[in-house]
Amino acid sequence: MFQHPFHLRGKTVLVTGASSGIGRSVAIECARAGARIILTGRDQARLDGTLAELDGVGHVGVVADLTVAEQSARLVAAAGGLDGVVHAAGIDGLSPVRMLRQSFMQTVLDANFMAPMLLTQQLLATKALRNGASIVFLSSIAAHTGTAGVGPYSASKAALEGMMRCLALEIAPRAMRANALAPGMVDTPLVNGDRDWLDQKAAMYPLGLGRPEDVAYAAIYLLADVSRKVTGTQLHLDGGIPWT
Ligand SMILES: NC(=O)c1ccc[n+]([C@@H]2O[C@H](COP(=O)([O-])OP(=O)(O)OC[C@H]3O[C@@H](n4cnc5c(N)ncnc54)[C@H](OP(=O)(O)O)[C@@H]3O)[C@@H](O)[C@H]2O)c1
Repeated sequence: MFQHPFHLRGKTVLVTGASSGIGRSVAIECARAGARIILTGRDQARLDGTLAELDGVGHVGVVADLTVAEQSARLVAAAGGLDGVVHAAGIDGLSPVRMLRQSFMQTVLDANFMAPMLLTQQLLATKALRNGASIVFLSSIAAHTGTAGVGPYSASKAALEGMMRCLALEIAPRAMRANALAPGMVDTPLVNGDRDWLDQKAAMYPLGLGRPEDVAYAAIYLLADVSRKVTGTQLHLDGGIPWT
């Protein structure tokens, strides 16, 4: 019988940021595609809400703030053997350079760059990632475009992509892969606090505002064996917005 190759059956996938938005959708869609999910976020109630929506059995939720080393280490210990990880946890980071504070810049870099990279370091050092594993980072088109006032966020995502390309070369001998997804605006709590503002932004996207599932389906592609030759790349999900 024909088995469709776009599936995650038999795989265990760690999803960060699974208590909200894109990470939540990644966890739900990956479970639908057959994966067992280790899901993590900071908010216990919302993480439990995602857990309750997952198809299949054996999923495990772990509450952790990934900017705190001990909590990140506890997550690694709980994760066990992994075939993939999607680093969806992140925060916004808006400040014109003129008003920039060092502590703010540090907070944005800690959450969006240091936390996913140091978690990856621990997953590799403890051999929690199996040979053949796929690592997916959540970047943004902000890593590639200039937008006034978005500097700290853009810098954190550009740093993530730069290091992802180096990581891809380091882990290729174990048939592991690293890639990034770079969406334009996606309708999640990160950006949908002011609906009028978001509607104005949405009008700039010829293919419409991103939905969390758009990103989740791309994550499934990068996690699945069908993309086994794809590494060190970023996939733009920009909805056709002109990059100027
Ligand atoms: N939405 C967009 O327009 C857009 C576009 C491009 C890229 N992205 C990227 O996509 C990723 C997901 O964004 P989203 O839109 O889904 O945002 P979201 O709805 O605000 O969700 C962010 C998630 O990250 C978690 N998180 C934040 N800081 C954390 C920390 N220190 N430790 C552990 N977890 C932490 C949150 O956990 P709690 O809620 O439990 O605290 C939440 O689950 C981010 O990296 C973002 O930069 C988003």
